[in-house]
Amino acid sequence: MWAIIGTWHFSLQAIEAFAPRLAAGDGAMDTAVAAARMIEDDERVDSVGRGGIPNAQGECELDAAVMEGRALRIGAVAGFCHCPNPILAARALVDHAEYNLLCGVGADAFARSLGLPQQPILTEAALARWQQLRQQRQDKGHDTVCFLALSADARMAVAVTTSGMSLKLPGRVGDSPLVGSGFYADDEVGAAAATGLGEDIMKGVVSFRAVEAMRQGLSPRQAAEQAVRETHLRLVRGGHKPDNIAMVCLDKYGNFGAAANHREFAYAAAREGLAPALYPVEPVIDNQATALPRELQGLAGS
Ligand code: GLY
Repeated sequence: MWAIIGTWHFSLQAIEAFAPRLAAGDGAMDTAVAAARMIEDDERVDSVGRGGIPNAQGECELDAAVMEGRALRIGAVAGFCHCPNPILAARALVDHAEYNLLCGVGADAFARSLGLPQQPILTEAALARWQQLRQQRQDKGHDTVCFLALSADARMAVAVTTSGMSLKLPGRVGDSPLVGSGFYADDEVGAAAATGLGEDIMKGVVSFRAVEAMRQGLSPRQAAEQAVRETHLRLVRGGHKPDNIAMVCLDKYGNFGAAANHREFAYAAAREGLAPALYPVEPVIDNQATALPRELQGLAGS
């Protein structure tokens, strides 16, 4: 069995391109990274790679990570500024077993040492959008690109890439390069990855939470729903209104599912015997609801 799942509608093009390669025997890691790179290179996607919306000072700072599920090897970069393909640096880091995460100037130096193309990340369109968002004092959302892949040889991998929160404070790092929060993969169970506000996602360590739920026997959809709901409710109990949280899950058998606490999320997926398709996601709990979540009614004031 092979399978691939990606976040947001724009991952469909990569799933259509790379599902046949998985079917032909390509590896999980190569496929997840190639899919993520394809979206990084698509300038129309303004939440990742070239074309990503910059930070408060007008500079693009990219984060990316990969994990493979056999030996649990990880590669992650954060605050990556001079190359539009952080996913390639994250992938290369997996082969440097002594380090899991590089940030800032060190991450950029590592990319240079690999010979990765040093190119401007900021596009004219992203600059125009940044100026508009700045005037409106608005953040544009957190559409992190995540791919989970299962190859025919039963190997699993995850690739995650993002330009992070638009207009962020320079140096801010979200969930995406943080193992357990933005991503997790374990060949013995399955893989998970998250998209949404990193500050909320990392409080729930949602990806590890979902993989552990699958280990306990939940389906990918049940695991994603439990991880999103538990994290959302815990934040509400602490007096915090959760921002957007969404995630995708894939188990070692090729079953997939997703969950969100908002109405905007969709994902794309394909697996052996199932053609690439887009799946909208009904929120498991709604962060726009004005009433207290059903699970917490009766606890108010206690
Ligand atoms: N989920 C991406 C970020 O918050 O940076």
